[in-house]
Amino acid sequence: MQRTLVLLKPDAVQRRLAGAILSRFEAKGLRLVGLKLVQADRALAEKHYAVHAGKPFYESLLSFLTSGPTIALVLEGREAVTVVRSMMGATDGAKSAPGTIRGDYALSVQNNLIHGSDSPENAATEIALWFTQAELLGYALCD
Ligand code: CMP
Repeated sequence: MQRTLVLLKPDAVQRRLAGAILSRFEAKGLRLVGLKLVQADRALAEKHYAVHAGKPFYESLLSFLTSGPTIALVLEGREAVTVVRSMMGATDGAKSAPGTIRGDYALSVQNNLIHGSDSPENAATEIALWFTQAELLGYALCD
């Protein structure tokens, strides 16, 4: 069983798409083990996007992530990292395939609604950045 970090970025909250996006993951069969509304500050945004430091879009990306509340999720399931990323679609909303989250709801490359960890190793790092251990709940499902 794998865990992954998902962020419903400020544009998803602003556009009231959080429920629609979360529904897709639940319907797929992923288990919700962490969920919270977070106003990210610059320090958190810098840590989350450290790999992009120095890129031309970095400052704008930090402003975007700190512009309003983000919904942070931890989802668990078989191959959760890959499953979430394929459901998200390509980074650029204009190029993401219809049927994916970005393909259906996003047109921008920066304001692309959602972030998902790109490897199990990065998922572990990102989960620890956004959640304490006590905020992750293990529980049985009745299915
Ligand atoms: P995400 O999957 O969270 O990973 C890095 C983020 O940087 C990406 O989603 C976009 O929000 C943003 N991003 C990536 N490439 C660009 C770009 N060329 N211009 C602006 N923003 C970008």
